[in-house]
Amino acid sequence: MANSVEIKFSIEVLESASDLSTEDQGLLKKATKVLKDAYAPYSHFNVGTALLLKNGDIVVGSNQENVAYPSGLCAERVALFAAGAQHPDVPVTTIAITAQSDTVTIDEPLAPCGACRQVMCETENRYGQKIKVILKGDADKIYVINSVSDILPLSFTPDKLAVK
Ligand code: THU
Repeated sequence: MANSVEIKFSIEVLESASDLSTEDQGLLKKATKVLKDAYAPYSHFNVGTALLLKNGDIVVGSNQENVAYPSGLCAERVALFAAGAQHPDVPVTTIAITAQSDTVTIDEPLAPCGACRQVMCETENRYGQKIKVILKGDADKIYVINSVSDILPLSFTPDKLAVK
């Protein structure tokens, strides 16, 4: 008989941003502020993100699209790669992500795409520091997730490349 493994994780669901700590509220505000800087003429789906670094610095990003669609990049990776380039030795502790669109309603807090989860996971592994994930859509409701590894189970991690 086959065995099965159940993988569980929990999301903290908040009614509104006022239930976040002052620091997290500030970070989400920064993510919201940069929604206007998204370059999204093709999807009309603006995503804004703000990273809190362990030294207190904040790095923001928004999605940057391209007429050759795959050449564009999601907001999360714009911010994470900028953080890696500009603050190479500083862990990321929190990421706030939100989205806004003039063509669709974003009913649920934005769920980051798989590729961005993989890059967030790399950042966690690189520094050995869990990253708290704060997600928001159009509504007031907010999801808070303890660690990126919660939303990317069975992930491809550096140990898989360890030489025999
Ligand atoms: N997008 C992000 O920036 N982050 C995500 O997690 C999901 C999708 C962007 C990519 C593209 O510019 C637009 O949203 C529509 O997919």
